[in-house]
Amino acid sequence: MHLTDEERRILDGAFGEPQRIALSVLLKLGEAYGADRMLEITSAHVVGSSYQIAGEAGIEIYGQLVQQGARVKVRTTSDPGSIDFARWREFKTPADYAERQIKIAELLDRMGVIPTWTCTPYTTFNVPKFGEDLGWSESSAVVFANSVIGARTNRLAAYVDVCAALVGRVPRFGLHVPESRRGEVLFELDPDLSASFEDYFFPALGYLVGQVTADRIPVIVGVRQTTFDQLKAFGAAAAASGSVALYHMVGVTPEARTLEEALGGRLPAERISVGRREIARTMEQMSTGQGGAVDVVGVGCPHASIDQMRRYATLLRGKRVHTGVELWICTNTMVEEMARRMGYVEAIEQAGAKLMVGTCHNDCPLGAWGFRRLVTDSGKFAYYTPTTVGTDCIFASTEGCIEAAITGRVERR
Ligand code: F3S
Repeated sequence: MHLTDEERRILDGAFGEPQRIALSVLLKLGEAYGADRMLEITSAHVVGSSYQIAGEAGIEIYGQLVQQGARVKVRTTSDPGSIDFARWREFKTPADYAERQIKIAELLDRMGVIPTWTCTPYTTFNVPKFGEDLGWSESSAVVFANSVIGARTNRLAAYVDVCAALVGRVPRFGLHVPESRRGEVLFELDPDLSASFEDYFFPALGYLVGQVTADRIPVIVGVRQTTFDQLKAFGAAAAASGSVALYHMVGVTPEARTLEEALGGRLPAERISVGRREIARTMEQMSTGQGGAVDVVGVGCPHASIDQMRRYATLLRGKRVHTGVELWICTNTMVEEMARRMGYVEAIEQAGAKLMVGTCHNDCPLGAWGFRRLVTDSGKFAYYTPTTVGTDCIFASTEGCIEAAITGRVERR
């Protein structure tokens, strides 16, 4: 790999041990993937902020880095942690577990990481521009940054993201290379589907696209109108059921003004037609259990936006969550504060629902609850919670989720 004089000096230790180690790791990664050089990045986003992901090794590694004077070189934000820092007792998190997460938070603070504790950093504090190179992890954030914004990042692993943050660089390969961003698998939506873009549609379509595409780049034609939250839900599902890190939606995302542009002038390797039958079949797969009594309802994956908070408040106003059912809405402190000022939090809490801030069902230890059946409107939760929370999962629309929380029952669609 070609290295600049400054990069050689970093490797010689001229800028300290943390930078030397970080660049050595990135160099090895670049060599393994055939990178030709390093790229300067404008920001990093790190998943090793979560104790569940970083573990004891994280405390040790970050502790050493802090002792050696490590500071991030570019704007760096933190992914959700493994506790709600304000309410972890309410969520039955063991005290020693919470202490470990708080320790990681202190260490990241000392390295200069912005404590956003969110999987949607692109809404506040870490908003990339089109064409910028980034060093991000968190699959749902990576796919949003690449696809909806047109920034460029590979899906970095925990710790590699911290290395990128410490030196402000990543090796140039994969999605940093324009030719590697061409669409490969074409999904053509039936025209009659557009009449039914209900809120379950985008996570279900994302789930289907991820399953078929795996780690290739999908192109979707036939979506005419979407919202920010629908794109967020679509990408998170595709990144969970597959390992999609970039998608093109023709006429919607910035590198897909036309089908030809999305495919980079080539023919697709595969064409898939998507109609009502395919969406229904996917929704069937997204539910692992039968209908019946509900223990917990999870919405806000990825973290809820202010528009979603308004929707939850509207659906819950004057209603009451069923006795014995937990309705948890995941979001971040920035949205929480705004929603509080706008009266949404009051409506949500009066109904007996809880905000789960700076974390989510997937990141927290929930063993103490003994949940058996979870209902969600998120494709990513639907994919992971059967394993991480250990429950059956029923996928439903947002309205269906709130309804399940109020009635205490859910039917499998
Ligand atoms: Fe975010 Fe947790 Fe979902 S990190 S994307 S709310 S699984």
